[in-house]
Amino acid sequence: MTQHLAAPTAPTSASTTGDRRTGWWRDAVIYQVYPRSFADGNGDGMGDLEGVRGRLPYLKELGVDAVWLSPFYASPQADAGYDVADYRAIDPMFGTLLDADALIRDAHELGLRIIVDLVPNHSSDQHEWFKRAIEEGPGSALRDRYHFLPGKGESGELAPNDWESIFGGPAWTRTVNPDGTPGDWYLHLFASEQPDFNWEHPAVADEFRSILRFWLDMGVDGFRVDVAHGLVKAEGLPDLGAHDQLKLLGNDVMPFFDQDGVHEIYRSWRRILDEYPGERIAVAEAWTPTVERTANYVRPDEMHQAFNFQYLGTAWDAAALRDVITTSLAAMRPVGAPATWVLSNHDVTRHTTRFANPPGLGTQLREAGDRELGLRRARAATVLMLALPGSAYVYQGEELGLPDVTDLPDEARQDPSFFRAEGQDGFRDGCRVPIPWTAEGTSYGFGAGGSWLPQPEGWGALSVETQTGDQDSTLELYRRALAVRREHPGLGAGTAVEWLRAPEGVLAFARDGFVCTVNTTRAAVTLPAPGRVLLASGEVALGEGDFELPGDTAVWWAV
Ligand code: GLC
Repeated sequence: MTQHLAAPTAPTSASTTGDRRTGWWRDAVIYQVYPRSFADGNGDGMGDLEGVRGRLPYLKELGVDAVWLSPFYASPQADAGYDVADYRAIDPMFGTLLDADALIRDAHELGLRIIVDLVPNHSSDQHEWFKRAIEEGPGSALRDRYHFLPGKGESGELAPNDWESIFGGPAWTRTVNPDGTPGDWYLHLFASEQPDFNWEHPAVADEFRSILRFWLDMGVDGFRVDVAHGLVKAEGLPDLGAHDQLKLLGNDVMPFFDQDGVHEIYRSWRRILDEYPGERIAVAEAWTPTVERTANYVRPDEMHQAFNFQYLGTAWDAAALRDVITTSLAAMRPVGAPATWVLSNHDVTRHTTRFANPPGLGTQLREAGDRELGLRRARAATVLMLALPGSAYVYQGEELGLPDVTDLPDEARQDPSFFRAEGQDGFRDGCRVPIPWTAEGTSYGFGAGGSWLPQPEGWGALSVETQTGDQDSTLELYRRALAVRREHPGLGAGTAVEWLRAPEGVLAFARDGFVCTVNTTRAAVTLPAPGRVLLASGEVALGEGDFELPGDTAVWWAV
């Protein structure tokens, strides 16, 4: 399965793409590709690196600055590639290292940067170290690189502590000794096929520094760091003692999440990134209780960006949005990092569907809701997001206004948490359905074969082909928005917005030479026109000195 390629020498120019700007990442729009579902180059029903490479011109034309690829490494796919068996090899399902090399080179030629996913909290249970740790039995030195512990109770039949897996069920699995007797337990905060590394062990830290260098030498521009908040566990792995642990997630510091010790790891990584030319970056996937704690991950000697999950979780409500925008900007200012904004990713229900439903239902929904309303709000939400200072993330297919596929049959589902939570949770497959590229045809142009998750009826009406050239389409709205953002670099720059007085339910703020107005209510409001319309998410009626802002609509003005 493993094929290693002699790494090309690191580029010697100051930048991988010829772009001379410094701090490219501060206002970059970064497009997330979920390789399984983006484009299938070889017709086996599964997206792959060749598929992505073939669509790079589409991404260039869309107007994004960088592409983040979810994992494509050798993996048994127990968690769609977030269970890595070999960090230096490509899974044959996605291609080869030569394909990765070609993809990185082509992207750079087009002026697009490439960010790869790094999964340091856990490996696959098929990783060489873990396999040997199991095979060699209790005395194996490799067990120290994971968390192996004897169980509690008379014969070790109880898990070492009360931690629960994020995917449901206990966070511990008991091993079987080579002689067939029940053995020690190992920790896995996610699926049982994803054993957590022990980051206290120097071999683990060394290995990841080497993996970073491997991919930096391949020419990547950065890393999205998976579960960045999880690497260090509280001393002694203390019981949590809480009954509903999942409710605490994201609201509290847990003994396995957001421990202060993680920051030393990122400082050592930053030193490596800084050795390379071209401003290579790291982005934290850190689910922390507050934006202030998220800011710890992007102090000047740590990572460059962190996802703003508080923003992602905010309802379509002017007051709540204003609050999260203000707090996010304020939290990032003292550490000098850009704020980031994100509405969708491969782990949550797409925002078109979240906004189609009443607020407060969480980020994994089973209800399609009012699709027209959801799309209207989603378009407005994007126009708002792209007017905020900092960097923005776009998840593949949101530029097509794709809804979540909420009615996937249970037999089609692959999300491990669906199975671990006995079908009560784990609806992440709904946002992972392959992209429709063409109006008709096999898998709507996703590939020459089928599609690993069934695409719903009518998917072709949302395809790139159908939307291209239709000025009312969501795709053309994204293209225009990104073009305007490029022409007016001021849109993503800076660290603050100036809030303007606005009626309840309406947001209005000024930036250098711009005003953005957003109506989060369903009723139209009439407001004084602040300038010339640059972009609108829906129809806007201009009057004599004023304008009517329809419900769930956002507008950019040049002033
Ligand atoms: C992150 C990924 C998610 C994955 C989990 C375990 O949250 O985004 O998809 O299941 O980590 O690696």
